[in-house]
Amino acid sequence: MYTDSQKVGWLEGIIEAVHDGILVIDRNGVVRLINEEYSKITGVEKDQIIGRPLIEVRPGALLPSVLRDGKTREGIFRKEKSKEYVVDMAPICSQNEIIGAVSICKSISEVYELTKELKRSKTRLKQLEKAFGNLHQAKYSFSNIVGNNESLKKVVDQAKKVAASDLNVFITGESGTGKELFAQAIHNESKRRNDPFVPINCAAIPSSLLESELFGYEEGAFTNSKDGGKIGLFELANHGTLFLDEIGDMPLNLQGKLLRVLQEGTFRKIGGLTEQKVDVRIIAATNKNLLNMIQKNHFREDLFYRINAVHLRIPPLRERKNDISSIILSIFEKQNWKLPIISQDVMQILQAYDWPGNIRELKNAIHYAVNMSQQNEIRFDHLPETIKKQFSNNQTQKASSLSLDHLIRETERKAIMNALKITGLSVEGKKKAATLLGISLASLYNKMKKLNIAP
Ligand SMILES: Nc1ncnc2c1ncn2[C@@H]1O[C@H](COP(=O)(O)OP(=O)(O)OP(=O)(O)O)[C@@H](O)[C@H]1O
Ligand SMILES: [Mg+2]
Repeated sequence: MYTDSQKVGWLEGIIEAVHDGILVIDRNGVVRLINEEYSKITGVEKDQIIGRPLIEVRPGALLPSVLRDGKTREGIFRKEKSKEYVVDMAPICSQNEIIGAVSICKSISEVYELTKELKRSKTRLKQLEKAFGNLHQAKYSFSNIVGNNESLKKVVDQAKKVAASDLNVFITGESGTGKELFAQAIHNESKRRNDPFVPINCAAIPSSLLESELFGYEEGAFTNSKDGGKIGLFELANHGTLFLDEIGDMPLNLQGKLLRVLQEGTFRKIGGLTEQKVDVRIIAATNKNLLNMIQKNHFREDLFYRINAVHLRIPPLRERKNDISSIILSIFEKQNWKLPIISQDVMQILQAYDWPGNIRELKNAIHYAVNMSQQNEIRFDHLPETIKKQFSNNQTQKASSLSLDHLIRETERKAIMNALKITGLSVEGKKKAATLLGISLASLYNKMKKLNIAP
């Protein structure tokens, strides 16, 4: 146990260590204790004040009134000569009796510095918020969707209608058909347009990191976690739209957590103790067949129905080849390029090509051709290799289908198939077919083998 004088020693040590100025008076208003910081702030030294009634040394002091009414006072501004400071005052009570009072003061210059720092931080926060806002803005709208094809126009109309609602949207379409373009256009036409549009590609982020990307984590949630934790994309997208691209690649355990957010409107950060509310519209996209995935238990059916309030299927370019020329035109307009002469045969080749990479591939092909052609003309040899190759293969196929050998084989195949259709495939049938065709049975068997006709 400590003696009383040891206790006082401890107390004085603590009081000296405090960064604020402290002055204590007893129940008679006599100053019992001040610390170094008090002297620094007010300019009053220990030997001028200790053991003397406060009111004598500092006639304007308010602390004696705390002894009388027992009330605390906060943020009192004091100015004496050149010294300015802010004071908090409180009574010291023991067994329901006021036995003294304490005054705690802070130099104004420190308060001033802190205020300046706060102002700087606020400005920085505003700048960051602005930068963040720009980062999470959707830049495309419906006016950027080029095409007059009927099936495309139907999807655009459907998308415009759904933009006015707050329903979740599920977009399917092959790679490069414009899924993200549609998602942005819907967001920009919706009432959430002034809030963030946050895209995330579930296939591009390792599944071990996807959870912390989506939901964030609290500080110290795991080793190497960032100081201050991490804000997840759900929180960033609050009041806006979260675009879950390639949702078919989301791991099953996360699908469960996603479903919970969609159902409850709340989520919990990794390592977090409390649920956080969020208001986010989901637009999900994939080029995978989710129904097949559901059958194989790779995708949760309940989640599928949650995200699939409205389904938009964007047709591939090969189903709307009549849009190719307007898309080409829009590329030149957007780039402010002079429209080159595109020869008729090049247009025919572009029309015949099946565009597995859809609009993205068409855009790339045009950029490539423009770079290859130094004049204001795009010819066959300026086209990308893949397109030229498919065209050449088609030509070879067409040419070989014209060869005499090919024609004879096809005629023989048709004649044998027709004969077998009449006579049937039994041995008897084949004998009759051989007679009908005017050849021996052995020769019929030979030809069937050569022409790959099933026995
Ligand atoms: N109808 C369209 N009119 C004009 N440009 C389009 C159209 N559709 C798509 N594009 C353009 O094609 C490119 C690919 O579009 P987007 O990224 O939206 O496709 P995606 O379906 O999301 O592709 P992926 O499956 O590869 O993610 C973008 O540059 C986009 O602006
Ligand atoms: Mg995409």
